[in-house]
Amino acid sequence: MRTILDNITGEARRGELVAILGSSGAGKSTLLNCLSGRLNTGTLTGSITFAGRRRERSTWKSVSAFVEQDDALYPNMTVRETLRTAAYLRLPSSRYTRDEKNAQAEAIIKSLRLTKAADTRIGDGLKRGVSGGERKRAAIGQELVGSPDVLFLDEPTSGLDSNSAYAVIENVRSEAVRTGRVVVLTIHQPSIEVLYLFSKVVLLSEGATVFFGPPDDALAHFEQLGLPCPPKRNPADFFLDILTIDHDLESEPARIRALHDAYRGLEKERKLESGAFSGEIEDVDVFDAREEPLGGWANSWWEETGILYRRAWTEIFRNRPLIIAEFAQTIIVMLVMGLAFLRLDNDTRGIQNRAGILFFWPINQVSL
Ligand SMILES: Nc1ncnc2c1ncn2[C@@H]1O[C@H](COP(=O)(O)OP(=O)(O)O)[C@@H](O)[C@H]1O
Ligand SMILES: [Mg+2]
Repeated sequence: MRTILDNITGEARRGELVAILGSSGAGKSTLLNCLSGRLNTGTLTGSITFAGRRRERSTWKSVSAFVEQDDALYPNMTVRETLRTAAYLRLPSSRYTRDEKNAQAEAIIKSLRLTKAADTRIGDGLKRGVSGGERKRAAIGQELVGSPDVLFLDEPTSGLDSNSAYAVIENVRSEAVRTGRVVVLTIHQPSIEVLYLFSKVVLLSEGATVFFGPPDDALAHFEQLGLPCPPKRNPADFFLDILTIDHDLESEPARIRALHDAYRGLEKERKLESGAFSGEIEDVDVFDAREEPLGGWANSWWEETGILYRRAWTEIFRNRPLIIAEFAQTIIVMLVMGLAFLRLDNDTRGIQNRAGILFFWPINQVSL
């Protein structure tokens, strides 16, 4: 039995962007999975509340959305088609017409500033498409079309240059502020510009909180502990220096433990003050009444099948090499089979051969 996370507290309000920072293996993704309800092994104790209440199994899925680190997008679809398909799947037809769903996709394109890339195909390793930042924003947009109240992003900036990373986080932030959404994300090494876009940071080391609060308060906290940030140093890099444990040094576990204890002390002080961290969440009603959480799936099985069928068809049809290969293969197999069984007689052998082809043909079709 291994404890991966311990002593984690925190809260996020509407319109806030909360970042979980820590070195690799600190437990960032695990924490994000706990919060988003995607933990599938192990046990979790404690309480996680949303708008003052426990997360409800039936509605949580439609209230929250999760963007994985490795996004799976269809390479031959354009950004607009990707977002439209997501809108068709996520928005219930009982409440939205197709035009409204398209309009929702357009709104996301605009707010994530994807207009320029809207009609470009996503692309993949073989065929170039949109840029890395645009791709990430398209993946985030896919989740945003469902207007989730809470958005979780696992390492949305990994693999992006600092300008694209800034653009992605800035877009997500202004979206969150505009719609009163909560965004919780993990990030490995933000630039200083990105760091100050976060309302609060959770600094994790060895699975426990070293600090939770606004970035500047973290600097003040560490300074009090005799760890001032060197001038001209990116505070985010400074945090990582503090959080990263060097397993080869014997003094390290004690150093990290002292940091955890210091945070526990700070937490107690905060609780005594004003009750600002009492866990109560103001319920600001900024949502359209139509967007009341729904349980289960947005659309019927038939409708979903139709949407997925269309997407698969577009994807396959645009994949030229695949179509050519399939076509050529069919012609070749047809010729081989046709010639092998050409001009059969009407005797016992001919009949056996016909039975043979009737057996061989379906087997061949199934295994293609
Ligand atoms: N399902 C699991 N079983 C056992 N160990 C796990 C599991 N998931 C994560 N871990 C361990 O927990 C630690 C934190 O993992 P993770 O949350 O993925 O880190 P991060 O995202 O911060 O890099 C790692 O040491 C990892 O090996
Ligand atoms: Mg991770």
